[in-house]
Amino acid sequence: MQPRMNRQWILRARPADRIDSSLFELRETPVPELGDDQVLAQTLYLSFDPTQRIWMAMDSYIPKVPLGEPMRAGGIAQVIESRHPKYRPGELISYLCGWQEYVLLDPDSPERFPPVKVPGHLDPVLTLALSLTGLTAYFGLLDIGKPKAGETVLVSGAAGATGSIAAQIARLRGCRVIGIAGGPEKCAWLTETARLDAAIDYKNESIGERLDVLCPDGVDVYFDNVGGAMLDEVLLRLALHARIVLCGAISQYERPDAPYGLKHYLSLIINRGTAHGFIILDYFDRAAEGLLCLNRWVEQGKLVQEIDMQEGFEHIPATLTRLFTGANLGKQLLRVSEAPLPVRSSPIERMGFGLLSAYMGWRKRQRPRRLHSRT
Ligand SMILES: NC(=O)c1ccc[n+]([C@@H]2O[C@H](COP(=O)([O-])OP(=O)(O)OC[C@H]3O[C@@H](n4cnc5c(N)ncnc54)[C@H](OP(=O)(O)O)[C@@H]3O)[C@@H](O)[C@H]2O)c1
Repeated sequence: MQPRMNRQWILRARPADRIDSSLFELRETPVPELGDDQVLAQTLYLSFDPTQRIWMAMDSYIPKVPLGEPMRAGGIAQVIESRHPKYRPGELISYLCGWQEYVLLDPDSPERFPPVKVPGHLDPVLTLALSLTGLTAYFGLLDIGKPKAGETVLVSGAAGATGSIAAQIARLRGCRVIGIAGGPEKCAWLTETARLDAAIDYKNESIGERLDVLCPDGVDVYFDNVGGAMLDEVLLRLALHARIVLCGAISQYERPDAPYGLKHYLSLIINRGTAHGFIILDYFDRAAEGLLCLNRWVEQGKLVQEIDMQEGFEHIPATLTRLFTGANLGKQLLRVSEAPLPVRSSPIERMGFGLLSAYMGWRKRQRPRRLHSRT
């Protein structure tokens, strides 16, 4: 019998500036035989994230992707074979599947990012979007930005996956929200679908001039996804006690050796402002808190999660470049394949997003606070 083959997109070179498909090579290898306690899963959906550009180039909050290995990527896969007692064919998992059709995993190995089961009654696409960029927006805006009703919140990359959710949460908190995005179509989406108060088309308008008109009293919270010169323009227009949420700096990812030097950071001193960076990994113990809230807002029609779904394994490298040309609107995903088996779910997973362990972590975190209030 012919062995089952696994197509993989291999990282073959590190990027110098712009990324393109030539940095990757298509390889086919036989799917390895399952060992004891191993699981074979088939990749269904892949997530595309600007941070993959960083993973390709350098060690950061996690090590860079080794050359000759499949490109690292988060995704949803379906278990198709299992020799592990806790994993059954048909179950869905959220995992760093990588750019490959099949992934062999050892659930018991001490991995930094172990597989998380996704219950069968949940929409895996929405779960994938909300659990990465949705949580980033949720905790970045609420924990770090701390917006108050009536304040002016400015979001860059506002029509993208993270920005679109951060901007809408600010609106739900009763803030005046302005989004910055590239092009009239994205700006129309921001005011009409996401229901923001105003949008700035940075590709066709002067950000500074528009901010002077829209924010005469300054910006209270800036949720920054872009960095560079755009951040500098905003620094000049901070309100007293402004908070800058340093979520990302996509304008700088393709020029790591010559990053833009900020000119106006003294404004933070004058305005008693703060600029606070964060990485979403630090909030994973509170994932269930964020997911429950985000999912409820989506169900209630208060929050729109736009999904930009590309199709086909062969289009994976080109899909990553969409993030850097601004081709995507909302969360960038790609469907690799349909689920080959009926989706299966066990009773325990139905309790709270299958992220039961995260939820328990959250409950544990709450306990000291309750004890504290009693003393
Ligand atoms: N701190 C964390 O833990 C964390 C987690 C997730 C994401 N992030 C960061 O959040 C940001 C958004 O990520 P995402 O996954 O939500 O991607 P995304 O916003 O859906 O896609 C990237 C968007 O960035 C904009 N862009 C690209 N190059 C640009 C440039 N040179 N100047 C201005 N805008 C540019 C494009 O929109 P336009 O068409 O509007 O230009 C593009 O659609 C990134 O900086 C990412 O690194 C941080």
